[in-house]
Amino acid sequence: MSDLSDLYQDVILDHYKRPRNRGHLDDTDHQADGQNPLCGDHVTVFVKVKDDRVEEIRFAGSGCAISTASASLMTETVKGKTLDEAKAFFRKFHDMVTGSQEVDHGDGLGKLEVFSGVCQYPVRVKCATLAWHTLDAALENREEPVSTE
Ligand code: FES
Repeated sequence: MSDLSDLYQDVILDHYKRPRNRGHLDDTDHQADGQNPLCGDHVTVFVKVKDDRVEEIRFAGSGCAISTASASLMTETVKGKTLDEAKAFFRKFHDMVTGSQEVDHGDGLGKLEVFSGVCQYPVRVKCATLAWHTLDAALENREEPVSTE
């Protein structure tokens, strides 16, 4: 089990140090801002949608290792997915990190399972879900900035 924890730590550190899809997108169809008031960290998510799919996605902002790695893995996960699939990933991910769903290997979360241990640390749940709540707001075209509180 500790080998698995080490692997999870390695994946999170890799995405924190080398975030994928970080940056801005011009002419976005969907964009939202999110903030964690507990720490002041914030994220902006940019999405281009084509034929009901996430064609391009980027994120910008500053955050801790967990929030940055989560945003990075989120973009990798939902890129190319339909909007319904992206929202389904958000629900599953949210259930996993809040502990309301046991994660079973092969349930389709893939690399996102590296955050399965976060449910033991309530403060960290907000870090892990910040980008996802912001993505949800972007896809729903909500203009109010998202808060994890
Ligand atoms: Fe701010 Fe994690 S400590 S988002």
